[in-house]
Amino acid sequence: MAPRLKDRVAIVTGGAQGIGRAYAEALAGEGAAIAIVDTRRERAEETAAVLRAIGARAIVCVADVAKQDEMDAVARATFQAFGRIDVLMNNAAIYHDMNIGDQSLEYLRQMLDVNLLGILVCVRAVFPTMKAQRSGSIINISSGAAYPDRLGMAGRDLETVPSFAYGLAKSGVVYYMKSMARALGHYGIRVNAIAPGVTMTEATRKIVSAGIIDRLRSAAALGRTLEPTDLVGTALYLASDDSALMTGQTLSVDGGVAMLG
Ligand SMILES: NC(=O)c1ccc[n+]([C@@H]2O[C@H](COP(=O)([O-])OP(=O)(O)OC[C@H]3O[C@@H](n4cnc5c(N)ncnc54)[C@H](O)[C@@H]3O)[C@@H](O)[C@H]2O)c1
Repeated sequence: MAPRLKDRVAIVTGGAQGIGRAYAEALAGEGAAIAIVDTRRERAEETAAVLRAIGARAIVCVADVAKQDEMDAVARATFQAFGRIDVLMNNAAIYHDMNIGDQSLEYLRQMLDVNLLGILVCVRAVFPTMKAQRSGSIINISSGAAYPDRLGMAGRDLETVPSFAYGLAKSGVVYYMKSMARALGHYGIRVNAIAPGVTMTEATRKIVSAGIIDRLRSAAALGRTLEPTDLVGTALYLASDDSALMTGQTLSVDGGVAMLG
């Protein structure tokens, strides 16, 4: 069987480490050329080297997803290197670097800027190319944190919700996904979201307490947390023609904590 993403080109934001790195490896493994966008140059280069070692084409773009000029340059560099843009994985977020103790307005605005408005910035950057191609798949990474009511996490102690701005941004990501899916459908561009449950990355180990991880594990129907590789099947599905008629949907991959729909 031919690789599902042969001759396709994907931009993975926040692809240097963690879940984004797993997405980049999986998309490359199915034949896609990858542009890794991240602020962490060294780690992004390491990831690109791993992709090249499995025979994939990969470039690194050091850029901030919240800055339009930088993301426009990423879109140009990707098009120049590979000739098209088929997939945009909006995965970058302030997460590993989150400062839970800082609830200043300035910091909360910064988090919304990167985790929410960054999605709009990245979509604006790739839109002209996808519009000209009359095709594209945009995948926004939300989170179980977008659904505190469903997780039974609201109230009691503030610690259960790592940051209100984070949760707000991640629910806004779902709103953007739906409104963009409506607006861009007639250009042949699909927009969907993945809402991962707690996933054991370096970032999670740093910012989420063991107590919360235990609570989420016991709330999961399947009784376990995720590894980054548990998320790649859904990403490949949404990136490829397997989901050709799917747009405006959130796929919750969390072991059965939230049951959407
Ligand atoms: N790990 C989890 O449990 C979990 C659960 C639900 C959702 N998510 C979401 O999944 C995504 C990846 O999470 P992760 O655990 O791999 O986190 P991570 O912090 O390890 O990775 C995020 C990456 O984004 C990059 N980044 C941050 N700000 C950026 C910016 N302004 N411009 C460009 N790159 C930037 C970071 O350098 C990093 O490489 C995030 O959107 C996160 O919110 C994670």
